[in-house]
Amino acid sequence: MTARRKLIAGNWKMNGLKADGLALASDLAGRVNGAGATAFDLLICPPFPLLFPVADAIAGSALALGGQDCAAKTSGAHTGDVAPAMLTDAGCRYVILGHSERRADHGESDALIAAKAAAAHAQGLIAIICVGETESQRDAGQANAVVSGQLAGSIPAGATAANTVIAYEPVWAIGTGKTATPEDVRAVHAHIRAELEGKIADAGAAKILYGGSVKPSNAAELMAVENVDGALVGGASLKADDFWAIATSCR
Ligand code: PGA
Repeated sequence: MTARRKLIAGNWKMNGLKADGLALASDLAGRVNGAGATAFDLLICPPFPLLFPVADAIAGSALALGGQDCAAKTSGAHTGDVAPAMLTDAGCRYVILGHSERRADHGESDALIAAKAAAAHAQGLIAIICVGETESQRDAGQANAVVSGQLAGSIPAGATAANTVIAYEPVWAIGTGKTATPEDVRAVHAHIRAELEGKIADAGAAKILYGGSVKPSNAAELMAVENVDGALVGGASLKADDFWAIATSCR
């Protein structure tokens, strides 16, 4: 099996003001700096206005920074949008794209997500492309088919294991406290691994994260599942102790 280093990503969503974000980021940077060699890379994705101050607060640490979205365009008359170059300018190495909350709240299509990912790649960002089925789709036995369609539509030409990470986030497990069982996760991640062939160069080395109610009490079990190469963590990433416990559960 290809050795893939784990990535533990914190998606802060629309939470926290500057003081909260700085405190959390500084705390985590201190832990990363003090930890020495780890079995994981740690990433935080704060809201846009916090990126510059958080980047200053974590400067010099191995804690990585990412955005929660970016535009498909490089600049211009696009009110409210944030260009990939603005993210790299703020010190980001990663960007989350196609999160189910953006697919639902903003009607983002697979084609738009692919265009955003291509723009992110052109700027040197690593795109974390999110996929996952709803509860009714799962109940109808369509989980793998839904994920296949999202992967086919959302991964742009030019994707490689170095510039693209996939996050499997079953919608019914996000923020609900309902976690997919290790067997559910194993089955979908194996399906995704197979589907990445031909869509991502060096597919065997591409990371596939699991997300949806990951917390300290279930992290070790989930992170040990085959083809689970890390976690995309929402609620539990807002508490330094919980996020760190999730990360250090990686072996
Ligand atoms: P959750 O969110 O950990 O709060 O379920 C995960 C996500 O949406 O990325």
